[in-house]
Amino acid sequence: MSLKGKNFLRMMDLSADEILELIDLSAELKDKKKKGVSHKVLEGKNIALIFEKTSTRTRCAFEVAASDLGMGCTYLDPSGSQIGKKESIKDTARVLGRMFDGIEYRGFEQTIVKELAEYAGVPVWNGLTNESHPTQMIADMLTIKEHKGKLKGLKFVYMGDARYNMGNSLMVTCAKLGIDFVACTNKDYFPEPWLVEYARECAAEAGSTVTLTESVEKGCKDADVIYTDVWVSMGEPEEVWSERIKELSPYQVNKKAMSYAKEDAIFMHCLPAFHDLDTGIGKQIYAKFGLEEMEVTDEVFEGPQSVVFDEAENRMHSIKAIMYATLV
Ligand code: CP
Ligand code: NVA
Repeated sequence: MSLKGKNFLRMMDLSADEILELIDLSAELKDKKKKGVSHKVLEGKNIALIFEKTSTRTRCAFEVAASDLGMGCTYLDPSGSQIGKKESIKDTARVLGRMFDGIEYRGFEQTIVKELAEYAGVPVWNGLTNESHPTQMIADMLTIKEHKGKLKGLKFVYMGDARYNMGNSLMVTCAKLGIDFVACTNKDYFPEPWLVEYARECAAEAGSTVTLTESVEKGCKDADVIYTDVWVSMGEPEEVWSERIKELSPYQVNKKAMSYAKEDAIFMHCLPAFHDLDTGIGKQIYAKFGLEEMEVTDEVFEGPQSVVFDEAENRMHSIKAIMYATLV
């Protein structure tokens, strides 16, 4: 593979072939793990994980994958380092680049991870920024391939806040892989026009389409995959909840929305999800707005079409593949 020594910052930087190779490598490493075949091929290397936002899946995936590959791993939490407060990203990059073989960064603007990559001198992996979530894409495509047997030619529908990290990355990934992508949401939540234009160019090359629609029936009709994410992302102010609930409630993934899709359609969500009252924020929203579930109903989340935990597991196998491909 051609990714050795490269950064992994956003899907726009990858070719369709590179994405497909990463999906296949993830499947290969998953198979090794399931069969108990040791793959400590990166023994002696060390990675750093910088998290300026919280995480369950991404952090655990990086730590377990690093351990399986034989690497040491250092976790820097949102408050436990000098980053941002006493030391610039540029200086941090040059320090960590002297000690580690690769660096994961989760935080705010894409420009920060880009700057880190410019100065680190070792591969930098984007573990989520406001604009993109590329490691999630490899896990998601692997999950779809496992359940549908193919990627090209499928219809993928994204409901909810399509202009943030998940909507942006999924649109570009689907377009590159020849999957018909639909952003089904209030028009104020469509991805930015320049990115839609870029995705449409990729889709034209791959023989697929990118559609923006406010109609749930039209958007979800004959879909193979229905995907959603939280309505308010990490780092956004609490005050936006009320407008998000008002504007995005029509795009909740519920039984009705699923009924427009193919009978064997799957439901996906990057997680964490608000589908019941078992979370702190879920309880607060219920007290303030009377909503028991938000972007997805509990019925769909827990139902037979939901593959969200396969998807979560695949974060580990795919992050392992991304590190392997860029380090070996
Ligand atoms: N999907 C995802 O990135 O989850 P975490 O925020 O738990 O890492
Ligand atoms: N859009 C979400 C994704 C979480 C994995 C967020 O940024 O909080």
